[in-house]
Amino acid sequence: MEPEDPRSYYSVAARLNREIPNSYYPNQYDNPSNAQAHCESTGPEIWKQTEGKIDHLVVGVGTGGTICGTAKYLKEKNPNIKIWGIDTYGSVFKKYKETGIFDKNEIYPYVTEGIGEDFLPKNVDFNLIDHFEKVTDKDAALMTRQIVRQEGIWVGNSAGSAMAGLIQLKDNFKEGETVVIIFHDHGTRYLGKIFNDDWMREKGYTDKKGMTAQDIVASNKNGELITIKVDDTIGAALKLINQHSISQLPVTLDNRIVGSINEDLVFKKIIENPEVTSQPVKSIMLEAIPFVDASTPLETLSGMVTKANEAVLIKDFKLDKNYIITRYDIVKALAN
Ligand SMILES: Cc1ncc(COP(=O)(O)O)c(C=O)c1O
Repeated sequence: MEPEDPRSYYSVAARLNREIPNSYYPNQYDNPSNAQAHCESTGPEIWKQTEGKIDHLVVGVGTGGTICGTAKYLKEKNPNIKIWGIDTYGSVFKKYKETGIFDKNEIYPYVTEGIGEDFLPKNVDFNLIDHFEKVTDKDAALMTRQIVRQEGIWVGNSAGSAMAGLIQLKDNFKEGETVVIIFHDHGTRYLGKIFNDDWMREKGYTDKKGMTAQDIVASNKNGELITIKVDDTIGAALKLINQHSISQLPVTLDNRIVGSINEDLVFKKIIENPEVTSQPVKSIMLEAIPFVDASTPLETLSGMVTKANEAVLIKDFKLDKNYIITRYDIVKALAN
């Protein structure tokens, strides 16, 4: 949606400001107080903490307030400090800086939140930013998770983008130089996104490589294994299969898994002889579904779960719980 569109969040904010008496619209994009605040606070803070030794500043650019306010202060102190702006694919900044052209063809929806724009906010002073580096949504997302895992800093998505950009730019930094990066926000806002394995897979950011039986169990909402006892009736088994929409049912004796039945078998037996529903499950049960280790890779699993052997079981030793992975679960994991 174009920023000028009355439905865009920029236009809605401005309209609400016109409509609501005594309301205030900070307009962080064009309000010079935004950059000024960073000139008066972030800049001096970095100068002081690096004892004036900073050589490079790397910052994600949204409104431009952070990078330009900080850069203004730092460049006044030392004009040789290089200012690197991190941009997204789908944003206009980099091309505008390099060619002076505002190219609408550069604009498309992207995932990384907080940086990149489809217009030119007044807080972006292109003279203060030496270079824009574009980072893909995928690289930003993967780096965000890496920062959390490796550094124990629970950052948000634009921090991952800034860090991935810094690494792309590494050949511009000399040994012994001081490089400062700003991480804008924290990870709590991304629990359903970057920190959600299913979301990462759906977006295609994490591939199937490295996925294990444990990951499939974790992404499966089915919960704990449903079983039936050897002496329960085939009718009861049919009821469970229907109730839970499942295809496989491990059979237990004294809480141990000793056999299995599946929907095809149950349907076949009932069609052959409807009276069979009152007979015990043990009269028709097949071999037990095999257990596999939770660390079994997806590639190995897909070879083990075949038409002849439609499922495997996983044991969580810590919780003493069993889980099932069926052919359907594997197809789902591969398709996501
Ligand atoms: C999460 C996040 N990262 C980065 C930025 C970019 O900062 P600036 O708008 O100062 O350029 C913002 C801006 O609001 C943000 O919300």
